[in-house]
Amino acid sequence: MHNHESNPSIQKSKDELQKYWRSSNEMNTNPSNYLHGNKRSKYLVSLVKQYARPDASILELGCNVGRNLNHLWKEGFRNLSGVEVNPDALKLMKQNFQDMEAITYEGSIEDRIKELGEYDVVFTMAVLEHVHYDSEWVFSEIARKTKGHLITIEGEKKIASELHFPRNYKTIFEGLDLQQIYEKGLSQKEGLNTNFYARVFSGNRS
Ligand SMILES: C[S@@+](CC[C@H](N)C(=O)[O-])C[C@H]1O[C@@H](n2cnc3c(N)ncnc32)[C@H](O)[C@@H]1O
Repeated sequence: MHNHESNPSIQKSKDELQKYWRSSNEMNTNPSNYLHGNKRSKYLVSLVKQYARPDASILELGCNVGRNLNHLWKEGFRNLSGVEVNPDALKLMKQNFQDMEAITYEGSIEDRIKELGEYDVVFTMAVLEHVHYDSEWVFSEIARKTKGHLITIEGEKKIASELHFPRNYKTIFEGLDLQQIYEKGLSQKEGLNTNFYARVFSGNRS
């Protein structure tokens, strides 16, 4: 789609990647790592609040243990859904956030995206950066599911590890007829590092 060439000596293959995220190993050993990270969740919530009312339907792709969703829940957002490929992460979500009612879809974005409906807000945080170049067809599906706004908070600049597939999401989603309306280079201030950009796009029906 965008003429990216993966580098097999550095980056995992598509199958290796999915196997990695599905299982609990290495860096992903303990999905409870993702319970922490309140600073970046707060930043996310501040963005969502600018573009969505509490009754908005919101989808997180790659929600892991649901830390971001729970921050939204605590701020009064009630129509929450998440897709996550790691089953242990979804179990931890149920255990840790028992009062949160979120619809969850276990499986990869690749396997689940087509069956999903449309949402007022779709967002990702450190997830699209792990989508293999061979899976880039999912971006047009993501654009299609975005009724209101798409928020991406993703590492874009460098191949930070064998799990990373950097790309510019402004180019990608503007090529799919979304309009970028906000961009910010991030840092520790938002609980992330300088590889990350936050972007907000308005959907075709916003
Ligand atoms: C770095 S973590 C970020 C988790 C969460 N968004 C956060 O901000 O804490 C990446 C998450 O995306 C999930 N993931 C990676 N590739 C995926 C894919 N193709 N489909 C669905 N989930 C995926 C992983 O299992 C993991 O939970």
